[in-house]
Amino acid sequence: MSSAFWDDGNPGGRPPLNGPNPLLGAWERAVGEGTGALRRDELVHRYGFAIPDEPALDTIRRLSPRGVVEVGAGTGYWARLLQERDVDVVAVDIAPPPHPANRWFAGSPPWTTVAQSDECIVDHHGSRSLLMIWPTRNEAWPARAVHRYAQAGGSVVLRVGESPGGGTGDDHFHALLGMLDRCWSCAYGAANTACICGTTPLFEPVDHVAIPQWEGFDDALWVHRRTHRRSPVRGVVRRRWWLGGGRS
Ligand SMILES: C[S@@+](CC[C@H](N)C(=O)[O-])C[C@H]1O[C@@H](n2cnc3c(N)ncnc32)[C@H](O)[C@@H]1O
Repeated sequence: MSSAFWDDGNPGGRPPLNGPNPLLGAWERAVGEGTGALRRDELVHRYGFAIPDEPALDTIRRLSPRGVVEVGAGTGYWARLLQERDVDVVAVDIAPPPHPANRWFAGSPPWTTVAQSDECIVDHHGSRSLLMIWPTRNEAWPARAVHRYAQAGGSVVLRVGESPGGGTGDDHFHALLGMLDRCWSCAYGAANTACICGTTPLFEPVDHVAIPQWEGFDDALWVHRRTHRRSPVRGVVRRRWWLGGGRS
């Protein structure tokens, strides 16, 4: 792989892509050579966590007639490919690459304009789809983004990531998106997750699209639509002998 495509003195612009989807090409080569485990970190740093392909990009395009607002966009690689497919994308990150404070992308040139902003940006973009790709694991901002987006009248969340308990988002985020039917903390006494009892899902999953995956990871593109039908997440009733009763 050459790194010449970002030696163009244009870190904030739209450097040439060197092919229609260089990350997909590099992933195919790495998988073919059996070097995926070695290559993943450098390709994440250069492009991003998830590997876009045409079915995923086309799904996002189809479901986003009024464009996309992407929060936590990292290098903006997916945003760039969507723009090349005529999707209007507003992409933001709290520390847009190559910002040194970005723990994954410090020094990585962006693939398109990624503005410095946080989840509050969705307040102004309820008519767009909300795109979040590998939102940070166990941080609160992805849930805040979903909440604010619903308040702004948003109707479609497009999430690329793993299932609840995996490497993306937290339980509150997944509960808001209708991915959890119980509070794991209360139902099973899971110590590594916060109580989410009382969280009412604002969206529900209606579809998911497989994407190319790195070995050992299980991410996909999920489509969530606004719902008003769901009841709050609860813990299951557990007898607590030391209290002489139960709690729901
Ligand atoms: C795990 S990385 C994923 C980046 C990119 N979406 C990808 O898939 O490669 C999470 C990104 O979220 C950004 N981030 C963290 N907190 C944020 C916030 N409150 N608002 C916007 N972006 C945030 C980080 O700077 C980082 O770039």
